[in-house]
Amino acid sequence: MKAYRGHLIHITGAPSLAEAPDHLVSIPDGAIIVDDAGLITYSGEFLTLPTGAEVVDVRPGFLLPGFIDTHIHFPQTYCTNAFGGGQLLNWLERCIFPAEAALAEPDFARAAARDFCAKRISVGTTTALVFGSAFPDAQDALFEESMRTGLRTISGRGIQTVGPESAGALLTDEQTAIELTTAEITRWHAADTGDPRTALLHAAVVPRFALSVTPDTLMALGELYDGLRGAGVYFHTHLSENTAEIAAVRSMYGVDDYLDAYDGRFGPGSSPAGKTLLGSHSVLAHAVHCTDAELARMAETGTSIAHCPTSQLFLGSGTMPWRRTTSSGVNVALGTDVSAGDEWLLPRVLNDCFKVHMSEAAHAATSLVGAELLYTATLAGARALALADRIGNLDVGREADFVVVDPERQRLLPEMLARIDAEDTESLLFTLLTGMRDESVADVYVRGRRVSA
Ligand code: GUN
Ligand code: ZN
Repeated sequence: MKAYRGHLIHITGAPSLAEAPDHLVSIPDGAIIVDDAGLITYSGEFLTLPTGAEVVDVRPGFLLPGFIDTHIHFPQTYCTNAFGGGQLLNWLERCIFPAEAALAEPDFARAAARDFCAKRISVGTTTALVFGSAFPDAQDALFEESMRTGLRTISGRGIQTVGPESAGALLTDEQTAIELTTAEITRWHAADTGDPRTALLHAAVVPRFALSVTPDTLMALGELYDGLRGAGVYFHTHLSENTAEIAAVRSMYGVDDYLDAYDGRFGPGSSPAGKTLLGSHSVLAHAVHCTDAELARMAETGTSIAHCPTSQLFLGSGTMPWRRTTSSGVNVALGTDVSAGDEWLLPRVLNDCFKVHMSEAAHAATSLVGAELLYTATLAGARALALADRIGNLDVGREADFVVVDPERQRLLPEMLARIDAEDTESLLFTLLTGMRDESVADVYVRGRRVSA
């Protein structure tokens, strides 16, 4: 049993986004106690800390919940800042498909898995929904390295059955796609504990996007996923990121709305043709250009959005309208989308999130407050991953996923924070979240265990 003493900041309870500011906890001399099973048994003032625990004093550091990245691409570990000469479809064809083909080589894939996990640790991403490689050996390396380092990881191999010439190495026929996906789930879902309710590792069904598969493949994946829901397997893909992509999906599937392709409604004119892939364990990345009907359907089915503003800037994808999207009731979590997103640190993505929504057209522009930003990078992620009963904040009973942020590691950050009125928690949190950079992440814990590369 250990106690960690520092400035405790988190969003307590189980609020909605709108309620987050009222649930913000900030205790300048705070502490948590973590028991031997990695659960938080005390969370509050250091002054009233029960006796008996060895105290680790991280002051002047902050204790924050671990960051939850709901969309990041493992086979793009080395691809940030790649020049695609155009938006999404050009960038995929020119840069990404060839780069991902390199993970067919197992030694390279193992090195990428080590670097991917080490980088995640260095930026405090305790939990990630990871878009996987097409290659089973590479996925084995990712899960093995995640288990070795102690990270919390949900992933599935990227499924592609159709695509341009440069995607050739990533394609399989449909039967092979189903077999490889099934084998990965059998091998890795809850592989660490044998029980999804306690596991750090989970598996997902991950078609790259509607343009990488066919209606037949989505039909087969719908059948497969229907049989896996009960076991807590996830569904993850991209949705409505780019206008050229959306036009191509409409024309390839004959659907009214892009979402219909994932909702079993890929018959002519969006008529029902197969099983839906939406649900409480389904996370769709981007959702920049959705119709009200698509937002309502995601909210109704408990499907979440992984919002990736840094990526949307890099690829010129547009901006997910914040207020229209969140007010539809759909849960909006945060994703780096490395490598279209060229930042690994979720607070840097929050910084972009603030800027792009402040810059929306006049009637839609909004100034997100610190509590909303923190919520989006923590509790909303936990909710998207159906893990809100285990992680997302530092309440008693939660698994102790937390990050020690030491402002003294970063030039000017201590001075910036010192100038803020100690009572002005919102300003302090805003400055910390939008101002912190990689170097201020000091220590990272998952289920009470310090993770290290
Ligand atoms: N859509 C299909 N594949 C990708 C990808 O790798 N990155 C992004 N941002 N969008 C995609
Ligand atoms: Zn992506």
